[in-house]
Amino acid sequence: MADCEATTVETASELSVEARLWHPVAQVQDVGAVPVAVQLLERSVVLWRDRSTTIHAWADQCPHRGAKLSLGRVCDGQLECPYHGWKFDASGQCIQVPAMPEFVPPPSHRATVFEAQERYGLVWVRLALGGADAAEVPAFAAEHDDHLRKLNCGPYDVLTSAPRIVENFLDMAHFGFVHEGWLGSRQHTRVADYTVASTRTGLVATGCKAWQPQSNVHSTAPAEVEYRYEVTAPYSAVLSKVPDTNSTAVAGYRESIALFISPLTPQSSRVWFRLAVADFTSPDTHLQAFQHTIFLQDQPVLESQYPKRLPLQGHSELHTAADRASSAYRRFLKHSGVRFGVL
Ligand code: FES
Ligand code: FE
Repeated sequence: MADCEATTVETASELSVEARLWHPVAQVQDVGAVPVAVQLLERSVVLWRDRSTTIHAWADQCPHRGAKLSLGRVCDGQLECPYHGWKFDASGQCIQVPAMPEFVPPPSHRATVFEAQERYGLVWVRLALGGADAAEVPAFAAEHDDHLRKLNCGPYDVLTSAPRIVENFLDMAHFGFVHEGWLGSRQHTRVADYTVASTRTGLVATGCKAWQPQSNVHSTAPAEVEYRYEVTAPYSAVLSKVPDTNSTAVAGYRESIALFISPLTPQSSRVWFRLAVADFTSPDTHLQAFQHTIFLQDQPVLESQYPKRLPLQGHSELHTAADRASSAYRRFLKHSGVRFGVL
């Protein structure tokens, strides 16, 4: 047990690149009056809201005797440890030790505090301070498009690494097999030429085309669909797609989908999709059901891939020109210095 705990601490401190990135950890509506335990980069993290409803993310380990703060409670805007009742204010400072009512805890009596913010309906956490060149929360341009409605789908807990999930998101050659009758067909398996360019945050792939029997929730006929993919951070990507006109029940239908992944461990992940769709009338559940169907088709194949961590070294997996987006993603990861979820 002691060895296991020591390894966890070492792992977190070595993750300089990943620890300085913002990661999604929960849906904002799931953090209410009681503390919530989440996992991020093999660290246990507690989320809680203070009196002003600001969300805090701390190490889920009391600095007194290591109990999980997430088993405690929030009282008067303070987090109370479940074991001996030490109380911590919103800054992480211990302000009361019930066993010693006259004791004034010094500044060293503090919880370990991480940065947290709300964006895209999710709570984002960064374990290490970012510095001058710090990454932002991954961009999602459609968020600012008033003609698109936004809603989230998930979470999905997936037994594979975050990079395997991003790579699958960029992959068009699986449509005719994994999503047969939906996003592809065995009669249309050719991946037409497309262009990939490197960007500061990853890559952008343009001119991607796919013939899809049912490309979206409003499809009325098979259509050629134009895709644009963007990797917006090591564990995030966005796709935008526009089907042929006359192939949907909603005129001018288009959509943009962000993939946001919480890297729980090197081989397990929690996934959310943020949908931005040109549809302000369908119920949320109707729009989410389509994405749900598609991802549940992906999940068994994703979880079957071995190794679960994405191989970046050597030639352990084979590539063709159809895979150039995933090859570019692997090169980006290699140069980014990310080590969590890769080999
Ligand atoms: Fe938290 Fe003692 S372990 S108060
Ligand atoms: Fe897929």
